[in-house]
Amino acid sequence: MRPPIVRTLAQALVLGAAAAVLPLASPAPAAADSVVIGGRPVRVADSPWTVALASRDRFGGTRSGQFCGGVVIARSTVLTAAHCMREEVLGVPLGRVRDLKVISGRDDLATNTGNEISVRRVRINPEYDAYTNAGDFAVLTLSEALPEAYTIRTAGAGDAAYEPGTGAAVYGWGDTTGGGDYARTLHAADVTVLADKVCEEAYPGSADGTYTSASMVCAGELKGGRDACQGDSGGPLVAQGRLIGLVSWGDGCGQAGSPGVYTRISDVVRVMSRYA
Ligand code: ARG
Repeated sequence: MRPPIVRTLAQALVLGAAAAVLPLASPAPAAADSVVIGGRPVRVADSPWTVALASRDRFGGTRSGQFCGGVVIARSTVLTAAHCMREEVLGVPLGRVRDLKVISGRDDLATNTGNEISVRRVRINPEYDAYTNAGDFAVLTLSEALPEAYTIRTAGAGDAAYEPGTGAAVYGWGDTTGGGDYARTLHAADVTVLADKVCEEAYPGSADGTYTSASMVCAGELKGGRDACQGDSGGPLVAQGRLIGLVSWGDGCGQAGSPGVYTRISDVVRVMSRYA
């Protein structure tokens, strides 16, 4: 089993909340090993496929209950990370989260703009391995359809967008400094698709996970600086206008030698067609 390290915004919040009642939980200092992720504020209207996953019951209302990201790939279908649906993140089993919402069109989580749509069904990748982090995705079915213009095309196997050196952007409302500074508005960071070898060497296997090129994509900057961070999980990595990854994991945020690891979308497409 993976040791209980604080890995996500959600977990930090849950552990923080639990600590108030149960003195045995002492949350680790928020990502003490992290540095800035070097993003910039962007408008959700320019990337309408970027959505927030939220539960006010679990995470409180100040930031609309946001705890992970997601991506609209069809009018009623949103992809997120499988680990976002775990009890470790939610604090209770998924079935006990009554107000799971997808929030679209909301730049600033402190406002009520855009739409909050309830989630009708959650399917976790049957091939997801919580120990290595392989296959880290879940498929959410919305109770109402979003406009077609909100959807983004997925990049299948062999798509040129996966080639190392390709410019990509990652989007989210997560930690912008590595110090627990969760964004109120949507941010994006420009990163580069890196060769599998870079992540295979960085992550040969540890409690954090094991880089597996069949189901993961490596992206970031060799010298560090720009990266996704806690709270961004499940959100999009986009290259050449197509979705190539979902924020999944990494060691710290933006550190040289520890790039971001993303769920490989071509593998999501493969699994979805197999279980459809
Ligand atoms: N697991 C984190 C989350 O749930 C995402 C971490 C991504 N880390 C990175 N260095 N790219 O929000």
